[in-house]
Amino acid sequence: MKKHLIAMLLCAIPAIQVAAADTPEMEQRIKESRAVLKAFAAELKGELKNALDKGGPLQAITVCSTVAPTIAREQSRKHGWQIGRTSLKPRNPDNAPDDWEKKVLERFESRKSAGENPRRMEHAEIIEQNGKRVFRYMKAIPTAEKPCLLCHGSHIEPDIAAALDKLYPKDQARGFKAGDIRGAFTITRPLP
Ligand code: HEC
Repeated sequence: MKKHLIAMLLCAIPAIQVAAADTPEMEQRIKESRAVLKAFAAELKGELKNALDKGGPLQAITVCSTVAPTIAREQSRKHGWQIGRTSLKPRNPDNAPDDWEKKVLERFESRKSAGENPRRMEHAEIIEQNGKRVFRYMKAIPTAEKPCLLCHGSHIEPDIAAALDKLYPKDQARGFKAGDIRGAFTITRPLP
C-alpha cells in the first residue's frame, strides 16, 4: 500500500513540474505570449473591420484567408516562435490542431461547460517535443455575434457561403453561436 502511494507521488511530480505556471519564468513567458497575441488580435480585428466597412463580407474573406496567415507568419519570424490559430472545427485544414492542441481545446470546452468565461481562458505548459523542451501557450477565441457569425454562423448569406465553399471545400467552421469557443491562438516557443 505504502509502495503504491510512493509510486503515485513519483508519477505525479513530472506532471506538476510541466504544468506549473507559478515560477517567475513561466509567468514571464505567459505575459509575453499575451502581449504578442493582443497585438495579433488587434491587427487582425482592425483589418477585418476595415475590409467589412469598405467591401463587405465577400471582400473580408480575403482578409481572413490571406492577411491572418500573413500576420501569423510575420509575428512568428519576428519572435522566433510558432504562432497561429487553430480550432476543433477548422475552416482551413492547415489550422487543424496537433494532438496537444486538440487536448487543450477539448479542455477549454469542458471548462466552458463548467461555467468559465472563454474570454479569459488560457493554458500554458512546458512539454517535450521531438526531444526538445518547448513552451506552449493557447488562448481561447470566443465567437462574437458581430461580425463572426456572418462567416461562422448558421445562416450564412448564399454569396458568402458560395465563396467559402470554393476556397474551403473542407470547411467545418460553420454553425457557431455567439459565446461559443471558435478556436484558439496557439504559440510554440523553443526553450534553451
Ligand atoms: C468575412 C468572413 C469572416 C468573418 C467575418 C470572420 N471569419 Fe474567421 N475565418 C474566415 C476565413 C475565410 C477563415 C480561414 C482562414 C485561413 O485560411 O487561415 C477563418 C478562420 C478563422 C479561425 C482559424 C481557424 C480556422 O477555422 O481555420 C478562427 C479562430 C476564426 N476564423 C475566428 C473568427 C472570429 C472570432 C471572428 C469574429 C471576430 C471571425 N473569425 C470572423 C472568415 C471569417
